[in-house]
Amino acid sequence: MMHYSEMMKPTIHRLAETNSTNTYLREWVSREELPEFTVIMADFQASGRGQRGNFWESERGKNLLFSFLLYPDFVSAKSQFLISQIASLCIKEGLGRFASGFSIKWPNDIYWNEHKICGMLIENDLSGRMLSQSVLGIGVNINQDTFTSSAPNPISLKNITGRTWDREDILADMLRRFEAYYEFLRKGNAHIIAQKYFDSLFHKEGFHRYADKNGTFSAAIVEVKPAGELILCTEEGEKRGYLFKEIQYLLE
Ligand code: BTN
Repeated sequence: MMHYSEMMKPTIHRLAETNSTNTYLREWVSREELPEFTVIMADFQASGRGQRGNFWESERGKNLLFSFLLYPDFVSAKSQFLISQIASLCIKEGLGRFASGFSIKWPNDIYWNEHKICGMLIENDLSGRMLSQSVLGIGVNINQDTFTSSAPNPISLKNITGRTWDREDILADMLRRFEAYYEFLRKGNAHIIAQKYFDSLFHKEGFHRYADKNGTFSAAIVEVKPAGELILCTEEGEKRGYLFKEIQYLLE
């Protein structure tokens, strides 16, 4: 397996169309050995995959749709949320070059104010107690003007800034940021990463409305555990922990 070294540049394979860049990359690496940081970018996905089996809407040629390959064998299975944290940080910080108001909505959506601009689908494989392979699939809305799917609150960089942007320039910047965070993590800076992630969270200050299987309530974010669990504290002072998909944010 070829690990990434700072001497190498990521290889970007650009496709006019595929079903899903995650699926394409996972199938390719299952057939043939690929170097770390192999990147697949597509202009269009016929069946872009979102979280919870949802479809990821993206107009042809307008947005960034990419997946890239990692062999994070220095990350333990119980710390796998760190990969999600560094991916979220590099997208949030990359977008922060264009405007203020970006944050990370736990676990790994990127928001601009109350609107979603980016989603990720991270597929990890384990070998014993360590990660062996990750495919990080990221969709960032760049130049799309209007959204038609049932996603409640999408927005694009063009909607925010009023102009179109070069998708490949933005991708190159985000990959450079990811590489820097990945090396920072390899050098043992997990605590700093977790703190930066927490500081970047959407609805980090004050009380907000949430819904869980028992109904709606108002709570404040207290902590995100290393395994990714979100800890909220209700107005009555009760602490509640949630795993992915067990809680919904009610947006204003
Ligand atoms: C979400 O539901 O928020 C996650 C969306 C992830 C979409 C990206 S687009 C590139 C990559 N390929 C996919 O099929 N999905 C991810």
